[in-house]
Amino acid sequence: MVYPKRQILVTSALPYANGPIHIGHLVEYIQTDIWVRFQKLRGHDCYYVCADDAHGTPIMLRAQKEGIEAAELIARMGKEHLRDFTDFGVAFDNYGSTDSQENRELVTQIYRRLQQGGHISTRRIQQAYDPVKNMFLPDRFIRGTCPRCGAPDQYGDSCEVCGATYSPTELRNPVSAISGATPVQKESEHYFFQLGNFADALRIWLFPDITQPRHVQAEVANKLDEWFASGLQDWDISRDIPYFGFEIPDAPGKYFYVWVDAPVGYMASFRQLCQRVGLDFDRFWAADAGTELYHFIGKDILYFHALFWPAMLEGAGFRKPTAIFAHGFLTVNGQKMSKSRGTFINARTYLDHLNPEYLRYYFANKLGPHVEDIDLNLDDFIARVNSDLVGKYVNIASRAAGLLHRHFSGVISGPEPDRAGTASVLDGITGSALAASERISDAYDERRFGAAVREIMTLADAFNQWWDQRRPWELSKRFEAPAAPGDNADLHAICSTALEGFRILTLYLKPVLPELAANAERFLNLPPQNWADLATALRAGHRIHAYQHLATRVDPKQVQAMLDHSKESLTMTTPTIPAAATQTEAIKPEITIDDFARVDLRVARIVKAGYVDGADKLLQLTVDLGEGRHRNIFAGIRSAYAPADLEGRLTVVVANLAARKMKFGVSEGMVLAAGPGNKDLWILSPDSGAQPGMRIK
Ligand code: MSP
Ligand code: ZN
Repeated sequence: MVYPKRQILVTSALPYANGPIHIGHLVEYIQTDIWVRFQKLRGHDCYYVCADDAHGTPIMLRAQKEGIEAAELIARMGKEHLRDFTDFGVAFDNYGSTDSQENRELVTQIYRRLQQGGHISTRRIQQAYDPVKNMFLPDRFIRGTCPRCGAPDQYGDSCEVCGATYSPTELRNPVSAISGATPVQKESEHYFFQLGNFADALRIWLFPDITQPRHVQAEVANKLDEWFASGLQDWDISRDIPYFGFEIPDAPGKYFYVWVDAPVGYMASFRQLCQRVGLDFDRFWAADAGTELYHFIGKDILYFHALFWPAMLEGAGFRKPTAIFAHGFLTVNGQKMSKSRGTFINARTYLDHLNPEYLRYYFANKLGPHVEDIDLNLDDFIARVNSDLVGKYVNIASRAAGLLHRHFSGVISGPEPDRAGTASVLDGITGSALAASERISDAYDERRFGAAVREIMTLADAFNQWWDQRRPWELSKRFEAPAAPGDNADLHAICSTALEGFRILTLYLKPVLPELAANAERFLNLPPQNWADLATALRAGHRIHAYQHLATRVDPKQVQAMLDHSKESLTMTTPTIPAAATQTEAIKPEITIDDFARVDLRVARIVKAGYVDGADKLLQLTVDLGEGRHRNIFAGIRSAYAPADLEGRLTVVVANLAARKMKFGVSEGMVLAAGPGNKDLWILSPDSGAQPGMRIK
């Protein structure tokens, strides 16, 4: 099969650096990853880049609360995010940060070009200002009584009780969510991007005539039409100091609003990839680039991607996206994800309980090309994984490999079975599986993943039915004394054909289940397969490995444990630190200097850190107390640290604490940490210069 090689750049939206990845986010990253893996399997040049969205007020405030530099916070979050994605099989070619040098340069370049093109204006505006904290307040950081329904403690821009939207000046009894002070109105100069200058370009791009390709989904175009009708307003792109972001050139104290540099982060992350692997940046971004560019996003951020972003690109002389693919929002059991129900599930919590590829499989079933919301029904999740993956797909391999090894040392039979007439039957079943390849690849390419998966499972059903009709277990029973001369050759051909079918299904499922497919390829003793390998059947004489467990059934108890855990971990991550924990913990009864001297506190280096199977609060640390003295310590700091954050760091350890036997092993010391718990927990670190083994006196 020959098809032209495409050059494709793909992005997912950049997750905010101020919170963990949850299963709602994963809809998008899994959708994108499946599509990218499919394109790569087809042999196209496809690059998938993403980054953490690191700037903005919430990140600045969170860093302040943790008492660290924003740079440190975003470095930690970036690492955590990437680890979550990687563990879900989401494979970026580059994962960057919007707080990068590459991004700073590109944002500056784009801004300069917009300015030169006459698309930037300034004017003074009034905004809510926190007179205690000395900063302008984003709407979300003002709280007060809803002007419509009177509900207390609502956001500055909208009421969660009655759904009203309003301006912060209409809010009754407004207070700053940061300091509690009453905001005052203050004026300052702001920079605006004149979106209206691009009305014509956008109209052509968004609503092409029917002979031209579409850049947004039909339902999205309708939505945008409404926005167009209400007029394209100038966009306020500046924020006043203090702000965490890039300063606007020649505008001291003014910063780019986070949504200006966020989409440019797509380009910056790709530029890093170009530098790393020697790709030509302009081939993908020049105004006349002949390559393809796709942005996968959620429906909530359409305005930014379908209006501001193409206008910025147009104004700065870059190409516009080939298409924007918007998806809907995730609900769990038919309802919005909810902390109290335990359905607000973080990626890490899911990973602690369930196989990530099962979520990929379930989402694939539900995903289509439209902007519809998708529902994760947990009973359906269990049923589908168990019946499709374990009951249908893997079942083919486990049964056929068992017999092939018992009777034929795991060696595949020749393509021509001994007995006349059999060959066509065998060809028939694998032939019809191969015949579905165009339908399946079209479905993947058009993001109709649910259709692709249904097609594949129909084939799996066909193989299982065919196997049952052929009754190979009866031939196996009579193997030593066959009823007819060709029976054993038949048995050999049936097993071989079933395994060939399994090979084909594995390849079809590979974009969705990369890890399971890799394990299946190893079991089949094949190198990694690409779409072009579809037609290359298992050779006669090829030996496969003994069947090894490929997929385990989901136990409803695991799902329940995940929900329980989500309730727990979220009640502990409430953003406000309880006052009792920070200030008023009572001071312990007095001790003498001699009492204190009995406690042997040492500087230690954490040389190794790892998770503890079955313990969701603990990390296992190996610390070096100097002179090669290593200790094993279990520390209850998993909620606040990932192992990679700790390795190589200095900390303080109680070195003479009696060893304690715990469920997971013996703990030989204690790491010192402070804080109320969960994310808000900080281990002690000596200043640099301290050496492992030094006594703290
Ligand atoms: N930082 C911005 C995107 C900047 S892109 C230049 C942002 N971040 S986000 O973390 O809030 O969301 C990242 C992506 O995840 C968005 O596309 C968003 O729509 C998607 N989702 C976040 N929650 C979601 C669900 N509950 N369901 C489905 N997708 C969701 O927006
Ligand atoms: Zn209200």
